Amino acid sequence: MTTPRVATPQDGIAWITGASSGIGAALTRRLVAQGWRVAISARSAEKLTALAAEAPDRIIPAPVDISDADAVASVVDRLEADHGPIAQAVLNAGIYITIDAADPKFEDYAKTFDVNLKGTAACITALTPRMTARRFGQIAIVSSATAFGGMPTASAYGATKAALVNMAECLRIELHRYGVLIQCITPGFVETPAQDDNAFPKPFMVTADTAAERIASGMQSTRFEVTFPRRFTWMLKAIYALPRAWHIPLVRKQTGSGKPVE
Ligand SMILES: NC(=O)c1ccc[n+]([C@@H]2O[C@H](COP(=O)([O-])OP(=O)(O)OC[C@H]3O[C@@H](n4cnc5c(N)ncnc54)[C@H](OP(=O)(O)O)[C@@H]3O)[C@@H](O)[C@H]2O)c1
Repeated sequence: MTTPRVATPQDGIAWITGASSGIGAALTRRLVAQGWRVAISARSAEKLTALAAEAPDRIIPAPVDISDADAVASVVDRLEADHGPIAQAVLNAGIYITIDAADPKFEDYAKTFDVNLKGTAACITALTPRMTARRFGQIAIVSSATAFGGMPTASAYGATKAALVNMAECLRIELHRYGVLIQCITPGFVETPAQDDNAFPKPFMVTADTAAERIASGMQSTRFEVTFPRRFTWMLKAIYALPRAWHIPLVRKQTGSGKPVE
């Protein structure tokens, strides 16, 4: 049996989805500095081209909407044909749409599920048959600390991120014997465009560069979960480890969601 191991730039290229801004763009720069050739995907071709201009021989723009599974399969086909095997993938693309539970819109749920969940599944579907055939590969799925338990306004986003933790765990259990390493990233608040519309207090928020550094260093290990900043995410884990009869009222109080409506 091949034991899963950390990928290196000698094994092939890296592929980052959601690389046109925020965490994905910062991680692209970091992996390039580590010697990787990095294929970068997002919908915005212009932003990808601008990022690739920073290191044209190292960054390969590969625009795609991950909610289109056929398009994702074509991009992965083309990348591997032109640039060699994808040794490491960071499935980072995601959207955050706040849901007002008193006035929810079905389209907001559907859009969030399409990108965060079905989009990630499209990437997994394109990658794992190739990696299992090679008996090698490393995939990190970017979830969120929101996955640990319920939060107000996150009934769509949180549901997808909790599902991604479960997806990563299932894949990790199954793909170990094929030598494929699966990891799950659960960040707390990161200062990126995704946070612009989030009116919540954002304790212990880190920069996108710090997030990229934590992800890159976590991917140098074979551990399942890479979580940061730990003073925040471990505190959240401790709260959600309490019985629901305790943690649900606690989260309601702490987030101001218990105030009476007028
Ligand atoms: N910021 C935080 O506090 C935080 C905390 C925990 C987890 N995360 C997770 O970290 C990941 C990156 O988020 P971020 O904060 O860096 O946000 P961001 O700056 O908004 O980046 C999101 C990226 O995803 C891409 N994207 C969105 N929809 C896509 C689609 N349908 N197909 C392909 N690419 C798509 C966006 O590019 P285009 O718009 O050009 O497609 C962009 O590159 C997300 O999965 C997010 O849930 C963020």
